[in-house]
Amino acid sequence: MSKKSVNTPFEEQVFKPSKDFAKNARVSSMAQYNRMWKESVEQPAKFWASEAKELEWQKPWSKVLDWKAPDAKWFVGGKLNVTESCLDRHARGPRRNKAAIIFEGEPGDKQVLTYAQLHREVCKFTNVLIARGVKAKDRVLIYMPMIPQAAIAMLACARLGAVHSVVFGGFSAESILDRLEDCGATHVITADGGWRRGKTVALKDNVDEALSRTKIVKSVIVYKRTGQDVKMKKGRDFWWDELAAEASAKHEAKAFDSEHPLFILYTSGSTGKPKGILHTSGGYLTGTYTTCKYIFDMQDEDVYWCTADVGWITGHSYIVYGPLAMGATQVMYEGAPNYPDFSRFWQMIEEYGVSIFYTAPTAIRAFIKAGDSFVDGHDLSSLRLLGSVGEPINPEAWRWYYEKIGGSRCPIVDTWWQTETGAIMISPLPGATPTIAGTATLPFFGVDAAILDDAGNECKANEAGRLVIRKPWPSMTRTIYGDKARFKKTYWADYDGLYTAGDSARRDKKGNFWIVGRLDDVLNVSGHRLGTAEVESALVSHPSVAEAAVIGRPDDLKGQAVVCFVTVKGGIKSTPALQKELRDHVGKVIGAIAKPDNVYFAPALPKTRSGKIIRRLLKELVSTGEVSGNTTTLEDHSVIEQLKKTIADS
Ligand code: WTA
Repeated sequence: MSKKSVNTPFEEQVFKPSKDFAKNARVSSMAQYNRMWKESVEQPAKFWASEAKELEWQKPWSKVLDWKAPDAKWFVGGKLNVTESCLDRHARGPRRNKAAIIFEGEPGDKQVLTYAQLHREVCKFTNVLIARGVKAKDRVLIYMPMIPQAAIAMLACARLGAVHSVVFGGFSAESILDRLEDCGATHVITADGGWRRGKTVALKDNVDEALSRTKIVKSVIVYKRTGQDVKMKKGRDFWWDELAAEASAKHEAKAFDSEHPLFILYTSGSTGKPKGILHTSGGYLTGTYTTCKYIFDMQDEDVYWCTADVGWITGHSYIVYGPLAMGATQVMYEGAPNYPDFSRFWQMIEEYGVSIFYTAPTAIRAFIKAGDSFVDGHDLSSLRLLGSVGEPINPEAWRWYYEKIGGSRCPIVDTWWQTETGAIMISPLPGATPTIAGTATLPFFGVDAAILDDAGNECKANEAGRLVIRKPWPSMTRTIYGDKARFKKTYWADYDGLYTAGDSARRDKKGNFWIVGRLDDVLNVSGHRLGTAEVESALVSHPSVAEAAVIGRPDDLKGQAVVCFVTVKGGIKSTPALQKELRDHVGKVIGAIAKPDNVYFAPALPKTRSGKIIRRLLKELVSTGEVSGNTTTLEDHSVIEQLKKTIADS
C-alpha cells in the first residue's frame, strides 16, 4: 500500500492497495470494481446466478428471484444440500486431504481436520441426530465452546435439514430457556464445559438449569471437552462419543429447497426479547461464499483465521459456511485472546502461518492497551490481509492494526454488515479499494446501499442519515422467527420497500460510507449487540429494583459501556453491596457481556408526562454532566438536579 503524503493527518490518509496485492487479487482495480458493481446492481439476477452456479445444486433453479417486499425467494425451485458445497465436493476432489480446520484449544491441545475427516465427522453426527429422532425443520439448540464439534453440530443439522439455533456459550441459563422456548427446540447439543481464561465454563449445568423449567426438549447430546463433573439425566442425556461410536460415517446428502430454513440466530433489538433472525439455504450460502471470495480474496494456499465465536453471525458466516464453501484452510481457537497472556494470537499466527486475519476493533484496542511487547518478536510476515468487524474502527486502532500487525503491507477490509444481512454488505475489496481509517468504504456487488433523511431523500455528502438497502440480496434474513409483524415493523416500515438497517451513517464526497452507530436502543458492547430493554428487564427482575433505565456511554476499550440507573423499592437501602449484587444479577440473567459498568441509584428517573423514560437526558448527563437539550417534556424538573448529584457523588 502507498501513502498519499506523509504530511496529511493520519485520519485523512488514503491507502491504496499495493501493486503486489492487486496483481493476484480477483478484483484488482477500481475500474473493475466500478464496472462489476454497476452490472451487479443493474442486473442482480445475472450477477448472483453466476456466483450461485459455483456451488453444488442437486436441482437447478427456474427463477433467480421472486421479490415482493419484504418477501424474497432466491433461486426459486432450486434444490441443494448446503453441506455438499461445504464438504462433499472438497472431500471427493483434490482438497480431500487439505486441512479444513486447524484447531487449538485454550490449554494448548491441537487437532487438524482435513476436508475428508470433517466430512466423515459430519456424516457420522448426522446419523447420530437421525437416530435420536431429529427430522428436517426440527429446531436444534447448540450451546458449545469454540471447538470443531460446534461446527460439526451445525453442519450435521444442516445436512439433515434441521434448523440450528446456536446460543453463545457466554450466555446464561435464562437466555438458553428464552431462545429454546421461542423457537421450540426439541433437541440440544452441548458440551460438559469449555475453557476460558484457564477456567472451565459450566455449559452442561446451564443447560440443566434451563431444562428444569421446560419440558419441550427430548434429548441432549453432550460432547466431553473438559472432563468436568456433570449430571446426566437418564433417557434424556447422551454422550456424543458413545452415540458416534455406533454411527455410520456414510450419509447421502438429500437436497432441500433453496428457501429451506437453515438457522435461527437470536440478536438484540430495541424492544423486548432478542429476535430470532431466520436465514435460509441457497441465498445465504451464495452470499457468504461470494463475500469470502471477493472480500477476503481467499485463495487455496491461504490460512484464514476469524477470531469470532460461532455463537455470533460472524462465526456462522465466516467460520462455518463461507470459508468451508470456499474450501479454505482455517484456524479455530477455543479460548481468550489474553490467555495465558496477550501474545496468544500472535504466537498462533506465527505458528500456523495465518495469511488472512479477521477480528474486531474491541480486541485491537485491548491489545494496544496491553502493550506492544506482546507482539514484538513474533513473525507476522505470513499475513497478507486484515479484516475488521462489529463496530466502527477508530483511527488509532486502525493505524496500530495496519502498522504493527500488518507491517504496513496488508490491506484492511473494514466490513459492515449485520446478523440480518447474513453476509458483508459494505467493505473495501482488498486489491482495488483505496481505504481511509474508519470507513467501511463502498457497497459490495449487488448491494444498493444509500443514506436517507426522514423524508426519504438521499442525504447530501457528509450529511448523516439512515442507512438503507434498496434492493434485495440473497443472504438477507427472511423473517423474525414466528413474528412476521415485528419483522415488517422493524426493518421495512420506515421507507416503502426498503430495508432499514438501524444504523446512522454518512457518505463522503467519494461515496465512502462512514458508519456512525445505532439509531435504536441497541448498544454495541465489545462488538456485541445488547438491547437496553433486555438489561432493564433483567434489572427489574431483581426483588430490590423498582425501575431501571439503561444507556450506553462511550468507552475506550469496549466501544460502549453499560450504564444503569435504578430506583429501589421502598425500605431497600442503596448500598455498594446492592450495586455489586445488581451487576452480578444482570450477568446471571443475560450473560457476562451484559454486566453493567456503572449502576447509579437514582431517587427518580426522568420521564415525560405520559411516563416514558427520557434516556436522551441520561445519556447527556453521563457524557457531559449537564443537560442542554430540550427538557420541556420532562414531568418533574427536580429529577435532573438529583441525578446530577447522584453521578457527582459516586
Ligand atoms: C455494527 C455483526 C461499523 C452496526 C456482523 C451494525 C459496524 C451492528 C460494523 C450489527 C463496521 C458491524 N463498522 N459498525 N464494520 N460492523 N457494525 O448483528 O451497528 O452483531 O448494525 O453483526 O454492528 O451487529 P451484529
